[in-house]
Amino acid sequence: MFLIFLGPPGSGKGTQAKFLEAELNLVHLSTGDLLRSVVKEGTQIGKQAKVYMDKGELVPDNLIVDLIKTQMESTRSKNGYLLDGFPRTLGQVEMLEQMLSKTNRTIDRVIKFSLSEETLIKRLTGRLVCSVCGANFNTFFNPPKKKGLCDNCGGSLEKRGDDQAEIVRKRLEVYNQQSQPVEEYYRKQRKLMEVNASQTLQKTLAALKELIARDVSKSARGKSR
Ligand code: AP5
Ligand code: MG
Repeated sequence: MFLIFLGPPGSGKGTQAKFLEAELNLVHLSTGDLLRSVVKEGTQIGKQAKVYMDKGELVPDNLIVDLIKTQMESTRSKNGYLLDGFPRTLGQVEMLEQMLSKTNRTIDRVIKFSLSEETLIKRLTGRLVCSVCGANFNTFFNPPKKKGLCDNCGGSLEKRGDDQAEIVRKRLEVYNQQSQPVEEYYRKQRKLMEVNASQTLQKTLAALKELIARDVSKSARGKSR
């Protein structure tokens, strides 16, 4: 199975992908997470990417594709892949298709996370991330039991550098300009489904599972014909 989660910053892609990765035995690849780890390591790619990330702009396509290619080659696909935040430009769509065609694979579904801009801003400005295990919390919607500490591992919680109000606005603008054409592309291909991501974590997860199960049973019927 090859799934893509698309959606504006703060729509819940990463949170839901983490739940589904374990449940569906998929490899979760988030370009945002991969970039943050190379920035932390201080690699050459990390140094180049940081300049764009700090401003809320997209990192150039060639850097992203090299990163995702290396990651795909080094991870063993269990039941498949769940791409989170990639592809984000039409150039990345093209590069992904070239990559997949070499191994005779295709994308099964693209799921778009939909919700209002007002909620997105609250989710981003309230987000807290565990510095040890990466778990996500939110001061407004999902506060930790103990202030500043992760419920899962006790690690300290931090704000992401690009979650400041001004950079959040820029990221939303960049999404509308550069990533909405990606939605349109997959809509025309009849691969795009939408999930109402303004629901609670559990309701959104249940809706996603239903969409994925519906798709899997449909493609299984298609194959048996
Ligand atoms: P990236 O890390 O991908 O950031 P993003 O797309 O801006 O999305 P986020 O990770 O901020 O949001 P999310 O949808 O994952 O939401 P989350 O689950 O965390 O990219 C960062 C930067 O890297 C980019 O700006 C760019 O520079 C670069 N980059 C990355 N990929 C790139 C690419 N392909 N090409 C070029 N550049 C790229 O949830 C957010 C918050 O809401 C959390 O606090 C969570 O607890 C809370 N929450 C989630 N769901 C719910 C819910 N249902 N109810 C209440 N609260 C919720
Ligand atoms: Mg994310």
